[in-house]
Amino acid sequence: MEILRVLKERRSIRKYQKKEVSKNIIEDIIDCARFAPTAINIQPWEFIVITDEEMRKKIANITDYGKFIKDAPVCVVVFCKETKYYLEDGCAATTYILLAAKSYGLGSCWVAGDKKNYAEKIRELLQVPQGYKLISLISIGYPDEEPKVKKRSLKEVLHWERW
Ligand SMILES: Cc1cc2nc3c(=O)[nH]c(=O)nc-3n(C[C@H](O)[C@H](O)[C@H](O)COP(=O)(O)O)c2cc1C
Repeated sequence: MEILRVLKERRSIRKYQKKEVSKNIIEDIIDCARFAPTAINIQPWEFIVITDEEMRKKIANITDYGKFIKDAPVCVVVFCKETKYYLEDGCAATTYILLAAKSYGLGSCWVAGDKKNYAEKIRELLQVPQGYKLISLISIGYPDEEPKVKKRSLKEVLHWERW
C-alpha cells in the first residue's frame, strides 16, 4: 500500500477476524520498527511478540482499556531501556509497528503502557528485567470493523510561520 494512504487510512482496530497472521509478516513488522528514529541512535527498544492465547488473556485482564487483546491473534509488547528519551523512542517504534501492520492489510490498536499503574505487572508477567519500561501493548490482526473517527481539519491544526 502506498505510504501516504497508509498514514491517512490507518485507524485503531479493536475487532479482529479469527485468522492467523503469518510469522513472516510479524517478523517484518518488527523489522520495520527497528528503523524508527531514536535519540542519539540508542535504539533502547525490545519487542515481545505474544501469540499464546492464555498469555493474551492474562495481559488483557491486567489492562483497563485493552480487553480486546485477548481476541487479537497477536500482541506486540514494546519495552524500552530507561534512557533519557525512552518514551519518545518507544512511541516512534510503536507508530512504525501500527503503520507497517496497516501496509500488510492488518488492523492494530495501541494500548497505553508507560503511564499506567499496570506497567509493572506486565513487566513482571513477561519476565522483563528491571530497568526496562513498558511503552505500549499493540494488538494486531485482520480487521473485522471499519471505524470512522472524526479528525481535526487541516485548516484547524496548520499554522504557517507563527500561531
Ligand atoms: C498513547 C496512546 C495510548 C492509547 N491507549 C489506548 C488504550 O489503552 N485502549 C484503546 O482502546 N486505545 C488506545 N489508544 C488508541 C486511541 O484511542 C486512538 O488512537 C484514538 O482514538 C484515535 O483513533 P485512530 O487511532 O483510529 O485514529 C491509545 C493511543 C495512544 C497514542
